Amino acid sequence: MSPTDLRQPRFIQLYREDRAALRQELAEGLLATPAHSSPKYLYDPLGSRLFDAITELPEYYPTRTEAALLLTHGAAIAREVPKGVTLVDLGAGNCEKAARLFGLLRPARYVAVDISVDYLNNALQCLQRQFPSLDMLGVGLDFSSQLALPPEVGEGPRLLFYPGSSIGNFTPDEALAFLRQVRAVAQGGGLLIGVDLVKPVEVLEPAYDDALGVTAAFNKNLLLHINRVLGSDFAVQDWEHAAFFNAEASRIEMHLQARRGLTVRWPGGERRFAQGERIHTENSYKYRSGDFQSLLTAAGFAQVQAWTDERGWFAMFWAQA
Ligand code: AVJ
Repeated sequence: MSPTDLRQPRFIQLYREDRAALRQELAEGLLATPAHSSPKYLYDPLGSRLFDAITELPEYYPTRTEAALLLTHGAAIAREVPKGVTLVDLGAGNCEKAARLFGLLRPARYVAVDISVDYLNNALQCLQRQFPSLDMLGVGLDFSSQLALPPEVGEGPRLLFYPGSSIGNFTPDEALAFLRQVRAVAQGGGLLIGVDLVKPVEVLEPAYDDALGVTAAFNKNLLLHINRVLGSDFAVQDWEHAAFFNAEASRIEMHLQARRGLTVRWPGGERRFAQGERIHTENSYKYRSGDFQSLLTAAGFAQVQAWTDERGWFAMFWAQA
């Protein structure tokens, strides 16, 4: 095969960033009581690197527990999942997790979905060299608002892959609505999803408030990102990282807490914060395995199967559409 015969990944950018809409959304959240901000603003270029660092922390168990689950139960999972599917990777990022599935699931086509194809470009070029015969498509899409896959994804059953317990950022109601959309686009395939489970608070809280302060930096970096988008004047040193398990809501909450009374200003607005007042920056819901199974059934999935680690900390679900 000559180099010109090598397949090239294709790219489609559907998401168009609307700076005015982002500014409006941020300002509305800051003016609300309590103030809040969408977790998507945690992932600017530095935030994405800080998140990668989080996954290496001894306290942050989800990433390595999920990876171990896929290694241990990969063959069993592969037996359930149809062969020759289109593997649709939701929130693909560096495509690392899905690439580990290629050998196991032998997909016919790989579709990496993330908010921007710029993030996907390098990863897909590199993957294409490792897997020259696999058909690859990068799609730039904000699927958190609506999961509308373009026709270029093609006919045939799809295996949607949603690892990392990113589903935890949705409220259970939002998660149900999202899972229904997933089922609708799976075309007779299904969903392989990683879900973080309820566990002792002594394990949960340090995972979101680590000794090195990486998660604190990840949370505070949000302020630098907001300053750039909104033109606000947040001073990072005025804010403290707070993370705790809200048992009633079954979620880790992340907040930024004002160290002193202060006013934040931006073009067209300002907000006064009393000492100790917070901005709610993220929720990370933790499920009981049976409750998540019920959610999948409520979303219309048929056969549901779950694999979990021996400590019962994390679960991988296969749900047939
Ligand atoms: C990417 C949403 C799965 O909730 O564990 C990690 C994000 N926030 N540490 C999570 C996160 C703080 C992460 N998710």
